[in-house]
Amino acid sequence: MTMTNRPVISATGLFTPEHSISNEELVGSFNRYVELHNARNADAIEAGEAEALQPSSTEFIEKASGIKARHVMVKEPVLDPEIMAPRWDERGDDELSMMAEIGVAAAREALEKAGRDVRDVDAVLCAASNMERPYPAMAVEIQQALGIDGFGFDMNVACSSATFGIQTAADYIRAGNAKSVLVVSPEITSGHLNWRDRDSHFIFGDVATAVLVEEAAIAPAEHWDILGTKLKTVFSNNIRNNFGFLNRASPEGEGQPDKLFVQEGRKVFKEVVPMVAEMIVTEAERLSLDPAGLRRLWLHQANAGMNRLIAQRVLGHEASPDESPTVLDTYGNTSSAGSIIAFHLHSGDLEQGDTGLICSFGAGYSAGCVFVRKAA
Ligand code: COA
Repeated sequence: MTMTNRPVISATGLFTPEHSISNEELVGSFNRYVELHNARNADAIEAGEAEALQPSSTEFIEKASGIKARHVMVKEPVLDPEIMAPRWDERGDDELSMMAEIGVAAAREALEKAGRDVRDVDAVLCAASNMERPYPAMAVEIQQALGIDGFGFDMNVACSSATFGIQTAADYIRAGNAKSVLVVSPEITSGHLNWRDRDSHFIFGDVATAVLVEEAAIAPAEHWDILGTKLKTVFSNNIRNNFGFLNRASPEGEGQPDKLFVQEGRKVFKEVVPMVAEMIVTEAERLSLDPAGLRRLWLHQANAGMNRLIAQRVLGHEASPDESPTVLDTYGNTSSAGSIIAFHLHSGDLEQGDTGLICSFGAGYSAGCVFVRKAA
């Protein structure tokens, strides 16, 4: 590799929806839904033909996940016990679509922070866990809205979409096929969360992030060198969503929860923690980095307990909030955007030469590591 094709992160951007739902609001609405459901099905429950639904609890949610609130694109229908799903007017073909709109907002911040003229951007990757439609690609719409002359495409690797996008962008730069690539992750997770499922109704939140990956030679003075990237996938059914173009029934009916997010949370926890910890340590060593010397870990934001265990195994001691910051409390799990939000909000204070890790993990299973060092 020569000095001319070294990938760096020039800047990041974040779009946060204005609406937020606290655990109290969420549990209040869920429990009203449970009461209504149980009252309507009282005879069947009494006769032993149906099971009564159990209420949710704020104490459980915070203890099990670390989540206290989440942002959403729309709040009222999600909290309406008769709806329990987001609702919005379908946009016309001549209007900017919702994922593109929030992706563009995050991208603009990254471009502005880097002082990058859109004429110098070569490609847009829209990397997210769900796409609003199959085609034309969201990335191409974002590219057009930003006025970029180049190419774009969508990629979906569930919660690891953003880190897989960063490696893909970095590889374009390493290969000399592009100098400036935007990796945009609009995650409207409220659309694939089953708000009626007690086991998971508290998990997700909506957001969009953008990462501008560029060749070092054109990057602004303040940037992060990408020291190395590593991706891994191992097939698992423990996080799954069967919605797709071959099954076009509405996903929101109570009868087909498999057309929304479903998971075996315990198994995910148990299987993913050792896989990711081992991947980080092995890759750090391959890059001649001491894992214990990593100044900060921007980990995937799914569960505070998972992050505690992974950080402990990597650093060799219990990580402080400074070493492994969380955004779970206010954002919840934002799928692939989580580790990028953590990096965006908690990297400004690091010093030149500090080394850190952006790391994602989730459905697939999939995991991605991006080792970075602050250049200036
Ligand atoms: N309110 C109150 N109690 C609840 C509840 C809720 N909303 N949801 C589940 N419970 C109960 C369960 O019924 C169970 O009761 P029991 O012990 O009497 O059977 C108990 O709480 C424990 O449930 P469990 O599902 O085992 O909880 P958990 O401690 O594993 O936490 C997760 C659940 C989802 C927070 C956790 O497993 C997790 O985060 N896993 C990893 C998820 C992940 O990273 N996914 C990736 C997605 S991208």
